[in-house]
Amino acid sequence: MRIGMLTGGGDSSAINAAIRAVVRRGLAGGHQILGFKNGWAGPINGDYVEMTAEMVSGILPKGGTILGTSRTNPFKIDGAVDKMRENMKRLGIEAMVCIGGDDTLGVAHKLNHLDEPVPAVGIPQTIDNDINGTDYAIGFQTAVTVATDAIDKLHTTAESHHRIMVVEVMGRDAGHVALYAGLAGGADIILVPEHRFDIDVIIDRIKKRRQGGKTFSVVVIAEGARPEGREQVVTSEKTDAFGHVRLGGVAEHLADVLEEKTGLETRSMNLGHLQRGGMATPFDRVIATEFGIEAIELVEKGEFDRMTSIQHGQVTSIPLAEALTLRPIDERVFEMAQIFF
Ligand code: F6P
Repeated sequence: MRIGMLTGGGDSSAINAAIRAVVRRGLAGGHQILGFKNGWAGPINGDYVEMTAEMVSGILPKGGTILGTSRTNPFKIDGAVDKMRENMKRLGIEAMVCIGGDDTLGVAHKLNHLDEPVPAVGIPQTIDNDINGTDYAIGFQTAVTVATDAIDKLHTTAESHHRIMVVEVMGRDAGHVALYAGLAGGADIILVPEHRFDIDVIIDRIKKRRQGGKTFSVVVIAEGARPEGREQVVTSEKTDAFGHVRLGGVAEHLADVLEEKTGLETRSMNLGHLQRGGMATPFDRVIATEFGIEAIELVEKGEFDRMTSIQHGQVTSIPLAEALTLRPIDERVFEMAQIFF
C-alpha cells in the first residue's frame, strides 16, 4: 500500500520514535511510506518525501519531528481540503497515519467522513496528555521529566533565598503536566485548570509552612489554571487556526499577588517550550514505537478512523471520535497531592 504520514500541532520529544516505527514496520510489510512535511500543509501543497530506512536511522532519541510540523487547519483554508484530496489521489495515497494532538486527530477523523473519504488512523502525541481513551500520549512523560528536573533545581534556590517560587508548566486546559511534575518534584502547592484556586487558601498554606519552620515554598501552576472569577492569562488574544489563544504568564501574575499579599520575596519561572524538547524518556520511546507499529497494523487490517492507545499497560486502539474530548486529570491523584500541602 502507499501510506502517507504526517506530524501536526505542537511537537514533543518522542515523535521521531513513532516516525521510525511507522517507516520500519511499513517497509517490512512491503508498503511505501510518504512523509508529508509540516503537518497538514504537506498534503495541501503536495510537499512530501518518500521515506527510507536510512532517513529514520539514528532518530529514535532525538526531540522534535524530522517531518516538521505546523498548526495548519485545512478546514479553515478555502479550497484546502479539495487540494489535499486531489494531491492524495494523484500520489496514490491509500491511507494516512496522522501523529498529533486533538487538532491533528480531529482533522484525521473528518477525513474519514468526507464524501470521498481518506482512510486515516491516528497516533496520540501531545505533552498535554489531554486525549481521551489513552492513558498516555507520546511526549507527556518526557515533558514531566523535564519539568520535574526544573522543579528540583528551583527548589534549592528557593530554599537558599527563603523565597516563594512559582513555576508555570504547559498543558493548555488540562493539568496533567502540573499534577505529575508537581507530585514528582515535591511541590508544596499544585494548581490545575480543572480546579479554580483561591489565593487566600494558597497564602494560608504558605503561612502555615513558615510557622512549621519552612521558609520557602514551591508552587507549580498549569498555564491554564485560574482563580475564581478570573479568565485564563494569555500572552496573545489572537487565536490559531484551531481557535486556541496563546496561554502564558499566570505564574508571573500569581507571584506578584503573592509577594504583595504576603510580603515574602517571590519569583516566577515559565518553563515554556523547554518542556517540548530534549531526549525522549525510554517509556516515551517505547510507547511511540508500539504506537507506530500498531498504526500500520490498523491500516493493514482496514481498521480506519481509529487511534492507537495504551490502556492499563496494553496497546490497543479506539475510535477517533472517542478520543476527541478533553481528558481531565485523575481526581484521585489530585486528592493524594493535597496530603503534601
Ligand atoms: O499543545 C501543546 C502545547 O505545548 C500546549 O501545552 C501549549 O499551550 C501550546 O502547545 C503552545 O503552543 P505553541 O507552540 O504554538 O506556542
